[in-house]
Amino acid sequence: MKALVFRGVNDVHVDEVPRPHAGVGEAVIRVTLTTICGTDLHIVRGEYLVRPGLIIGHEPVGVIVELGPGVTGVQAGDRVLVGAITPCGQCRACLSGHQAQCGHGAGYEAIGGWRFGNTINGAQAEYLLVPYAQANLAKIPDELTDEQVVLLADIASTGLAGAESGGVRIGDAVVVFAQGPIGLSATAGAKLMGASLVIGVDTDANRLQMARRMGADVTLDYKEVDVVNEVKRLTDGGADVSIEALGTQETFEEALRCLRPGGTLSSLGVYSGKLQIPYEAFAAGIGDHHIVTTLCPGGKERMRRLMEVVRRGRVDFTPLLTHRFSLTEIAQAYQLFGERLDGVIKVAIRP
Ligand SMILES: NC(=O)c1ccc[n+]([C@@H]2O[C@H](COP(=O)([O-])OP(=O)(O)OC[C@H]3O[C@@H](n4cnc5c(N)ncnc54)[C@H](O)[C@@H]3O)[C@@H](O)[C@H]2O)c1
Ligand SMILES: [Zn+2]
Ligand SMILES: [Zn+2]
Repeated sequence: MKALVFRGVNDVHVDEVPRPHAGVGEAVIRVTLTTICGTDLHIVRGEYLVRPGLIIGHEPVGVIVELGPGVTGVQAGDRVLVGAITPCGQCRACLSGHQAQCGHGAGYEAIGGWRFGNTINGAQAEYLLVPYAQANLAKIPDELTDEQVVLLADIASTGLAGAESGGVRIGDAVVVFAQGPIGLSATAGAKLMGASLVIGVDTDANRLQMARRMGADVTLDYKEVDVVNEVKRLTDGGADVSIEALGTQETFEEALRCLRPGGTLSSLGVYSGKLQIPYEAFAAGIGDHHIVTTLCPGGKERMRRLMEVVRRGRVDFTPLLTHRFSLTEIAQAYQLFGERLDGVIKVAIRP
């Protein structure tokens, strides 16, 4: 089969590799649609380490072609969505509701639920081996297209979870820092959760426009305005929930400075280096602030719920799919997505 193989830093190539086969508890799907994540860019650039030879990508939609012994409730030919995070469903973390921190059969392991394109072969390929298939194959309702569900595997699940983890309540004022694919999904999540005011922050005019389409009432260009003062003015003293969707000191700190006492900072960004909390932004540690972090929720029940939200017309992520490529053209897709050319937000890749 054809697959995008990570050979080394800045060296990925569509190679001919052996097709996987399903063992006990596993499934193989023929991938019908996938996409590229910002995290894949970090991998290709050598900023997040994976082993050379690994097939990357973690956002699969496909059709079941093989089921190993022990997998029930689905059959060959079923269309399925598989989350970017594939919990085992059996360990202490999974059974305690922390599937993303799946402990691989034992206790907890930080980020342990993220396997595709990280510790095992991923989705930018013609076929994909799905581990713990019983916990991870979510049947796609007939009326939903591949394009309607592909972003639910990762960015939509993550962004919506940013609002859920933030505990957004009806009537809350929410500010979302960065309007990349994750931030845009968080903006949609804040609206879905019942925020009365959603403020989207970025500088890219195209993304700010998309933010309004996804549910932002107000957008702020951080290069044009003092975001902290403006959020405090718009919210009469501070946001109830700040969602950080970039992963930098600057946005983390601004998200904290925008919060009212007792507010929640819901952080989605992936950080590097040291993250500092200035004491005055934190009311010296006694402002009743909450800081929560979230890794993309996965597993078949999460995917089922998100597909229902889409099927019932509550939210539509297809506007984020701005460009389409075949798997053989994926190098072009990486270039476009990586350099953020031509107003790209997400690319659809059809193997
Ligand atoms: N928590 C998770 O499970 C999870 C999953 C996937 C990705 N991530 C992380 O989420 C983050 C965002 O990913 P993405 O793909 O949406 O990002 P992206 O790189 O596509 O977009 C980032 C956006 O941030 C904007 N920006 C830059 N500086 C800014 C500032 N100071 N204030 C406001 N906006 C600013 C840019 O204009 C751009 O639109 C990354 O750290 C990524 O690694 C987390
Ligand atoms: Zn991702
Ligand atoms: Zn587990």
